[in-house]
Amino acid sequence: MERKDFIEQVGLSGASILIFGCMQACSKSETTSNTNNNNGNNSGNTGTNKAIDFTINITVSPYTSLNTPGGFYVESTTGIIIARTLNSEFIAVSSACTHQGAQVEFQSNRNRFFCSAHGSVFDATGAVTTGPATAALKAYKTTLSGSNLRVYS
Ligand code: FES
Repeated sequence: MERKDFIEQVGLSGASILIFGCMQACSKSETTSNTNNNNGNNSGNTGTNKAIDFTINITVSPYTSLNTPGGFYVESTTGIIIARTLNSEFIAVSSACTHQGAQVEFQSNRNRFFCSAHGSVFDATGAVTTGPATAALKAYKTTLSGSNLRVYS
């Protein structure tokens, strides 16, 4: 092999390695940014682009608080608070207050969601009734079938 041929082959291989390495790096960064798109948003619409659809059994721990009218449960993996009103209707809204992201609680005697951080109040649909929050909590649909409660968007 002549010197010129050797340099051409090594140069071509080196360029191939660089291009392949760059393509892998670019591919990884796109995947990472897509994964993080729904994180860190306290607007109350967290996960707006993410479809929510899960089913829980309200007779099984840790959901048994929903087996009693007035009870509620915060599903931390989805950031959704599920409540059973005193009329035994199920309601579900995003659990992060739209003011600064503190977790809201359900007050069954007043049929509302309350944020103790700064006093914001949301009605059973998630709408703001008392500030400082100005945006509604995102509401989800619920369907009870036997003891299985489906929560979905
Ligand atoms: S974080 Fe809820 S009222 Fe401020």
